[in-house]
Amino acid sequence: MKFKNKVVVVAGGTSGISLATALSFANEGAKVAVLSRSQDKVDLAVAALIEVAGEALGFSADVRDIDALHNVMASVAESWGSIDVLVSGAAGNFASPAADLSGNGFKTVIDIDLLGCFNVMRAAYPHLTKPGAAILNIGAPQSWLPTPMQIHVCAAKAGIDQVTRTAAMEWGADGIRVNAIAPGPIADTEGMRRLAPTPAAEAVWTKSVPLGRYGTKEEISKVIQWLCSDEAAYISGAIIPVDGGWSLGGSSNMTMALTAK
Ligand code: HXC
Ligand code: NAP
Repeated sequence: MKFKNKVVVVAGGTSGISLATALSFANEGAKVAVLSRSQDKVDLAVAALIEVAGEALGFSADVRDIDALHNVMASVAESWGSIDVLVSGAAGNFASPAADLSGNGFKTVIDIDLLGCFNVMRAAYPHLTKPGAAILNIGAPQSWLPTPMQIHVCAAKAGIDQVTRTAAMEWGADGIRVNAIAPGPIADTEGMRRLAPTPAAEAVWTKSVPLGRYGTKEEISKVIQWLCSDEAAYISGAIIPVDGGWSLGGSSNMTMALTAK
């Protein structure tokens, strides 16, 4: 029970990696709140969290809407006191050649991933435990690895890295740590269903990982939990790949993977 009575908020915590992360904190005794757009997904996630921890909070909110996030964070603080851990994992992704992508398509991903990440942090800031809070943003190796069909995601995730580093500098004085992880391809996620929709594409992606396999949601949530624990008390401003070495391969691997039929 490493997070007993700690308050954890997970933005985007109603499916995939972020839901697995929310559940892993609940398993360690935390009080967990999740938010995402779909009320149905929020209800399901809250039910799963209550089964593990006995209590949970859930909010239907869009990370592009800062006013909605101010209300969410204030409600969490009113119910449980200050926020000890903030995980920002809401994201949108689809594969598209740059030449086919509309300005609004590009902006939509920037708004969800990058502006959304800032909004989540900004709205939580007044309620974060000072000193002691930890923020973990979920980025991607696309932030430094140019990847065909992902120009919008590459730009958004690069922005998340700099938001992470800059907030780590400004908020270090409050005793708040800010880090990001960059997961590689993770099994059984919406992200990989979109990027490797066929068995052939999945096989190429798998081969492009030096460890020869996709990661698991549990492997990601364990790293997130560790980075948000006291064991990582001197880590701030770090962008940590959790990708089986995938990002070492360079964009040639990805061109193969993304164009495989
Ligand atoms: C080209 C597309 C498109 C597609 C949408 N657009 N899908 N363009 N190809 N497949 C364009 C639309 O035409 C529109 O532009 C603009 O994007 C906004 O579309 P909306 O549908 O109105 O957006 P919205 O309802 O806000 O939905 C956002 C979304 C959607 C990102 C498009 O897919 C979503 O809600 N995704 C959330 C779940 C998700 O993506 N999870 C995976 C995350 S994984 P126009 O010009 O027509 O108005 C991840 C992995 C990263 O991030 C790295 C992996 C290694
Ligand atoms: P996912 O299951 O689709 O999770 C995305 C979550 O964000 C959902 O709960 C979704 O719920 C929520 N969301 C989306 N748009 C939102 C918005 N505008 N406002 C509020 N919530 C929103 O995806 P995943 O594959 O697990 O990815 C999770 C994170 O890991 C993302 O940050 C992604 O970029 C990152 N990542 C994933 C992989 C991978 O292999 N999957 C690799 C690298 C990085 P609603 O639909 O209810 O809003």
